[in-house]
Amino acid sequence: MSKQKVIYDTDPGVDDAMALVFQALHPDIELLGLTSVFGNATIETTTRNARFLAGRFVPGVPVAQGAAAPLKRAAPEPLAWIHGDNGLGNIAIEAAPEAALDARPAHRFIIDTVRAHPGEVTLIAVGPLTNLALALADDPQIAPLVKQVVIMGGAFGTDGVLGNVTPAAEANILGDPDAADIVFGAPWPVAIVGLDVTQRTIMSQDYLASLRDRGGAAGRFVWDVSRHYEAFHEQSAQLKGIYVHDSSAVTYVLAPHLYTTRSGPVRVLTDGIAVGQTIQKPSTMPVPAPDWDSRPDSTVCLDVDVPGMLALYERTICGTL
Ligand code: RIB
Ligand code: CA
Repeated sequence: MSKQKVIYDTDPGVDDAMALVFQALHPDIELLGLTSVFGNATIETTTRNARFLAGRFVPGVPVAQGAAAPLKRAAPEPLAWIHGDNGLGNIAIEAAPEAALDARPAHRFIIDTVRAHPGEVTLIAVGPLTNLALALADDPQIAPLVKQVVIMGGAFGTDGVLGNVTPAAEANILGDPDAADIVFGAPWPVAIVGLDVTQRTIMSQDYLASLRDRGGAAGRFVWDVSRHYEAFHEQSAQLKGIYVHDSSAVTYVLAPHLYTTRSGPVRVLTDGIAVGQTIQKPSTMPVPAPDWDSRPDSTVCLDVDVPGMLALYERTICGTL
């Protein structure tokens, strides 16, 4: 399999960091750059974290700083109780070596990189979708030049779950619902890896301890960075482990056969008490729905081969692929 060229749009974030290590170590992924976005922490913090992660795990790969706030709303408060005060579970962040900071804003980095590799670049977006919406606004013609956009975000109710921040909304989509509705309406292939599959995929405490013991420096890092996040899951959901959000988007890129999907256009509610809710009209649904029917189909993940996903992550971290 030839390597997949990836731009990783991210708000690190503990699970973002775990997904970065996954991409850095998997031989089928060629990271072209990281683009930061506000979300789990402020843009200053997520950019600093992205530079730290890139410098440590993918030396030479640049970071471009992205949006500090949603398109039309105020920036949210950092989620310190989930991701720690520093966004990386309060682990020590060494000063050097940090990745170079690209001079361009993230959306320009995305445009230029897509245009340099037409038809080849996959965008893995695991934070609010502001940078992608800004790229479309600046250069709408890039959409058909992108190989695919794989998003961690949203929820479609397959387990009765529609959100993790409100009863109706998942964090990344609620982070910028206007941007998400733009991104899902653009003419590029979109796959959505939402809570329907990420909350079914759980890394247990034993699984994480095994990575620590068998995964060398990467496994040790995954363990260290996830201590605060694991405590949050235990406290908030009585879970003896962690949900696998952002690494599930990476898995979809590497092994889409692990996911059961449904096709159809997706809309995002942009106001009201259900703001941030994602609603798909399945392509098999015969009734007219004008607010959906003029838009392209997205691929929504409804189910996942959990052992397959966990084995892929483990073998990548432990170097046993
Ligand atoms: O809802 C899960 C998502 O929100 C993940 O991307 C996590 O990093 C947080 O941003
Ligand atoms: Ca994230």
